[in-house]
Amino acid sequence: MRNSSYVSACLLAMSLFAAGCSRTEEDARIERLLSQMTLQEKIGQMNQLSVAGLTPDMEAAVRNGAAGSILNEVNPEIINEYQRIAMEESRLGIPLLVARDIIHGFRTVFPIPLGMASTFDPELVRYGARLTAQEATASGIRWTFSPMVDVSRDARWGRIAESSGEDTYLNAVMGASMVRGYQGDCSDSTSLAACVKHFVGYGASESGRDYNSTYIPPRALRNVYLPPFEAAVKAGAMTLMTSFNDNDGVPGTGNAFLLKDVLRDEWGFDGFVVTDWASAAEMIQHGFARDGKDAASIALNSGVDMDMMSHVFTAHLEELVASGAVKEKDIDNAVRNILRIKSRLGLFDNPYVDVDRAAEVQYNDSIMDAAYRTALESAILLRNEGVLPVDISRVRRILVTGPMADAPHDQMGTWTFDGQKECTVTPLVAIREMYGDDVEVIYEPGLTYSREFSQRGIAAAVAAARKADVILAFMGEEAILSGEAHCLADITLKGDQRKMIAALAATGKPLVLTVMAGRPLVLDEESRVADAILFSFHPGTMGGPAIADLLFGKAVPSGKLPATFPAASGQVPCYYSHNNTGRPFRGTETMLYDIPREASQTSLGNTSYMLDCGFYPLYPFGYGLSYTEFGYSAPVLDRQEYSPDDVIRVTFTLTNTGRYAATEVAQLYVRDLVGSSARPVKELKGFRRISLAPGESGEYTFELPVQDLAFYGLDMTRKVEPGDFHLWVAGDSVSGEPVSFSVVAD
Ligand code: BGC
Repeated sequence: MRNSSYVSACLLAMSLFAAGCSRTEEDARIERLLSQMTLQEKIGQMNQLSVAGLTPDMEAAVRNGAAGSILNEVNPEIINEYQRIAMEESRLGIPLLVARDIIHGFRTVFPIPLGMASTFDPELVRYGARLTAQEATASGIRWTFSPMVDVSRDARWGRIAESSGEDTYLNAVMGASMVRGYQGDCSDSTSLAACVKHFVGYGASESGRDYNSTYIPPRALRNVYLPPFEAAVKAGAMTLMTSFNDNDGVPGTGNAFLLKDVLRDEWGFDGFVVTDWASAAEMIQHGFARDGKDAASIALNSGVDMDMMSHVFTAHLEELVASGAVKEKDIDNAVRNILRIKSRLGLFDNPYVDVDRAAEVQYNDSIMDAAYRTALESAILLRNEGVLPVDISRVRRILVTGPMADAPHDQMGTWTFDGQKECTVTPLVAIREMYGDDVEVIYEPGLTYSREFSQRGIAAAVAAARKADVILAFMGEEAILSGEAHCLADITLKGDQRKMIAALAATGKPLVLTVMAGRPLVLDEESRVADAILFSFHPGTMGGPAIADLLFGKAVPSGKLPATFPAASGQVPCYYSHNNTGRPFRGTETMLYDIPREASQTSLGNTSYMLDCGFYPLYPFGYGLSYTEFGYSAPVLDRQEYSPDDVIRVTFTLTNTGRYAATEVAQLYVRDLVGSSARPVKELKGFRRISLAPGESGEYTFELPVQDLAFYGLDMTRKVEPGDFHLWVAGDSVSGEPVSFSVVAD
């Protein structure tokens, strides 16, 4: 689980052979082509166009070599026709690179990336991405704009759905896994080029409002936001996308320091960089470029290779080369980078897709099973007052209610252009299929969609609840409430959902909430009134069967939170890996309504907390219950003192002390007590899924290279600073007792 282990086989294979041809042959082919290309043809390769079907304009663009890549076409026959035009009718016969946003599945939709992260199962995520690549490439798509590894600490931001959440390490591990899955071993036509995005800091948009500016200082950029990108690049990501935000005034598409010094010089990236949609031209709105020409020059000179839908390269690069503002050798380099990836994907040898392949792989048993398993592992049990799992032998009537009980489109979540809702199985359908013959399944939705206000609907659901032995309420967010440009100021349940939950609870019947959403939500009231809460980030095509199996005990929840669930919307951004402040909360301070009317300000403790919601979130990062209980021994270290090149061996015993066979995600956290710059109170450094039978226990070891404790300190060089550390092994980010160790200088 080390980042370094993600310097994958793929990277090795890619560096030695490219789709059957050696690096030297590949270089020779590229140089040969480059020498034949006109400046216009070179600029054409650097242009990406969105297409919708075969149109005369687009056919002409491809024929004239004015597009190196197209996005948004998914019909294999149309894709083949575009490739034929490129290969047979364009002067140099250069294939197109066909792209699509395949963010969490193509046809078969997996849980949203935030849900995939909550599995803490990088191997399953890699496997899912591999099958997704098989589905997508069977339609002729060879490039996806995924993984998104933007560390996201603000649940108001709609795009938190697309990330692996708030943690640097978890984003790094999951991002690298997705890259390895999409690209495979790069040896055949199922290799789907990954695009790690959005470079960089996009998840830190001020106030969680999309596209907003970010203000990430250099040290936080290095320690928090860049490592997941580095891990994805080291895993072999073939492409990288710039971000929309300006960080401290510099838009991602115009940041030469990041795109050249960091990405190319430090990390050795040899793929290509694409802008985000129109982000080159948007540098004009940012007030960073005077006009389209200036934008083209800034983007190119900052290290962008391909322009997605701004048209500023095609409109201005020729003129910029003529005036000397842009050097043709830099254009040559960009084209080399693009052609290298086309060659690596084998497109020069065969850009076509066998149109019959799609039917074999799309929605086949393997991928549906992987989608089911991912949904199963991603659901997080937040609360259970003894009502779950539901014992089917003890109920006669089940009420299934709520706007998400039978919402096939909504349970797929954001960015699901290609998943068909007809193939999605909802909880209602799954429960009816499983138990419809044995018990009475009453379905009364109450609210038909998550933003609905309906007293009548609630009354009907309550009347049905009175007749039932257990209420299974499926609440949450429609797909449209998260994703790009879908941000919220208030992250409580919308519409009349809270009223409906309160009314259902008032019936006194056992109330089990399943919440399906695109982001962490504030579930304070729900946690007070519901007997159980199972949370599932939009779980995708197979969400229904997975959730039903968990509710009825055919499987046991094992997901853990990849992001903190705040106690109030006003608490965000809140995340476990914060610095301590000089006045940390002591847990005993006076809260709003305890303050005597006549109190003076100085009597309240003067520590870092909110009068109306304290300091702690509702559910911390890494948290998630099971139907069983797990006991951790204190971790034992193999030594007390380590040198910077050592590996720390941490051994612990985990025991399943409950009644169910289940899986626990054991988590390793570290705190560097004193640094040249202050260090976070905890940082995740490893995790491991462990399955145990009831009563079973096992001894496990984490191996933590001391180098993984390195960070950018006061002098902005990355190193391990000698000193004292605390270390925890626990089932979440707040449990366990620390053990100590020291790092001494060599
Ligand atoms: C998004 C990207 C996406 C691109 C192409 C943009 O609006 O920010 O994440 O890949 O569109 O669809």
